[in-house]
Amino acid sequence: EDPDARIERLRLGGLEKRLPQCIIIGVRKCGTRALLEFLDLHPNIKIADMEMHYFNKDENYENGYEWYRKYMPFSQTSDITIEKTPRYFISESAPERIFKFNSSIKLIVIFRHPTTRVISDYTQVYENKLERNKTFEPFEDIVINKRTGRVNTGYKAVRISMYYYHLTQWLLYFRRHQIHIVNGDNLIVNPLEEIKRVETFLGLEHLVTDKNVYFNETRGFYCMNSGNNQHCLGAQKGRKHPDIDPLVIRKLNNFYRPYNRKLFSMIGRKFDWDD
Ligand code: A3P
Repeated sequence: EDPDARIERLRLGGLEKRLPQCIIIGVRKCGTRALLEFLDLHPNIKIADMEMHYFNKDENYENGYEWYRKYMPFSQTSDITIEKTPRYFISESAPERIFKFNSSIKLIVIFRHPTTRVISDYTQVYENKLERNKTFEPFEDIVINKRTGRVNTGYKAVRISMYYYHLTQWLLYFRRHQIHIVNGDNLIVNPLEEIKRVETFLGLEHLVTDKNVYFNETRGFYCMNSGNNQHCLGAQKGRKHPDIDPLVIRKLNNFYRPYNRKLFSMIGRKFDWDD
């Protein structure tokens, strides 16, 4: 060990910036921020605040692991460092690069009803455009191809919800037991249940309790209580979704059904996504 680094480590009482032993790889709009912040309530979990886009963006990846490490939080040897970048899930390069980085890493992926996820994705992009005074087509016009009347797979948000297809790319490298799947629909209504499962997956004591989470009536969501600090996620999480033509919802549900079925048999677990 470099003497300067050793002195620095001792000075900080064993605290060091460590590369992540666990990565939340996605999926965008499924509750990735809520999951990360709930996990942060655990005394042995240290989170990287920023979405690093290290394994998906060439210009970041080329900076090397030491660059990546600089953005990690300080931790003790008994801690687990977690980074989340939802973009990894759909990235072509991330699975292989993460495997090369640490082939025994623990991965977490959070899913949510695929149609709800598309609506959430649309709502976010729509609101960002409104802020910039740009016009935007209604959901129904983007999601359905007017000419064929079928679901428009040219729309990226539609493709992201084809979970089976993307997860397949990860299972080319990682074993099933290395990937923990969080139920994003359940995380909204019962965060503790999902957090307990993650604690088990990470081999940590069950230390996040009902004292750490509370339901905030005005927000309509569970919020975090770390003892000295109570907080909810920002207004950009938990947006009101627009009303969507039920026929379009049905088309989307029908479109996703075969992908869902394949996903369930691949992961050996079912979600309540049938309409
Ligand atoms: P909506 O804004 O569509 O409701 P991500 O962080 O991956 O972008 O996911 C955002 C979604 O997290 C939100 O989607 C919201 O439903 C969900 N979520 C789950 N738990 C939440 C919580 N405790 N507070 C706010 N949003 C939460």
